[in-house]
Amino acid sequence: MTGVLEFTRVPHPSPVSEQDRARVLAAPGFGVHFTDHMVTIDYTEGRGWHDATVGPYAPLRMDPATMVLHYGQAIFEGLKAYRQQDGSIASFRVSSNAERLNTSARRMAMPELPEELFHRSITELLAVDGDWVPAAGGEDALYIRPFMISTEVGLGVRPANSYKYLLIASPAGAYFPQGVKPVSVWLSTEYVRAAPGGTGAAKFAGNYAASLVAQAQAAEKGCDQVVWLDAIERTYVEEMGGMNLFFVFGSGSDARLVTPELSGSLLPGITRNSLLTLAADAGYTVEERRISTAEWREKAASGEITEVFACGTAAVITPVGSVKSAEGEFTINGGEPGEVTMALRDTLTGIQRGTFADTHGWMTTL
Ligand code: PLP
Ligand code: COI
Repeated sequence: MTGVLEFTRVPHPSPVSEQDRARVLAAPGFGVHFTDHMVTIDYTEGRGWHDATVGPYAPLRMDPATMVLHYGQAIFEGLKAYRQQDGSIASFRVSSNAERLNTSARRMAMPELPEELFHRSITELLAVDGDWVPAAGGEDALYIRPFMISTEVGLGVRPANSYKYLLIASPAGAYFPQGVKPVSVWLSTEYVRAAPGGTGAAKFAGNYAASLVAQAQAAEKGCDQVVWLDAIERTYVEEMGGMNLFFVFGSGSDARLVTPELSGSLLPGITRNSLLTLAADAGYTVEERRISTAEWREKAASGEITEVFACGTAAVITPVGSVKSAEGEFTINGGEPGEVTMALRDTLTGIQRGTFADTHGWMTTL
């Protein structure tokens, strides 16, 4: 790409009325309502990124032989824009999401999007749809979904020569209908999410398709979520559904936090990375290492593991209250949210909402 790409703005001819938007914002749910506009930027081999547009949110027209429909070059990101106390809008660690989109792109033989365009796509969308960001003071935020698909038409199996980057946004409340109530998890030994050398470290659409049957199995077992184990030994904990996991050992100022190390087959969560920093700031020892299901079971029974929680952009921090596997069932912290879990949750959400000092420079005003 040469020079700065200008965005063409095409206003929606009939945007959602103020009353209807207020109705949506009063009870947004997750991922069911969308703002009036979307961003699209096209990529063509040899020409680079071109035709950046902020236009009406609308269906895409696609040839039935468009490559993404057959061979699945599709990646995405997820981040949130938060209303601040003074009415402004800020987002959290945008550069990390831009970087991870490009890591995913490289794994899927797709073109990288310059970080500056990623940022601009968000500021351009917020410039026209800023009124869709929920009010300050609560848990709600605007969930932003950047994604990229291949658009070349043809059935040959090879990287496509054209792509489309899109950005849509959706006002979001609690991801889990029960809010911060602890979830129950099923340890999946039959299905694995990702294997060494595979696509697990990419935010790749196919990973989510492959997860659905295991999530359905977890539900059949009476659990809210599936916990993924390593593909080889089916012993080491990787992550939970679409979230990373943390284990709290001990309590009070002696608490230690352990999170599965980045094995190459789990997603390097931006919330995970932020919590490693915030936990260290709070004086806790943090460790990234392998943790087995046997260690989890034994140390939960002995009281050494005191709390377990999952973390991600959509649901922030969710306590894990009970664990079920072929070997039986056990609870964590009597099925209640723990102190360390909730303190970290307050710190993280406080930074995101501008009520706690952003000492790491993670927030960007949009
Ligand atoms: N793991 C998976 C599989 C995910 O889809 C996500 C969500 O994006 C996460 C972990 C958490 O990542 P982040 O904290 O960047 O949202
Ligand atoms: C997360 O943000 O934690 C997610 O897993 C996003 C999900 C909707 C794919």
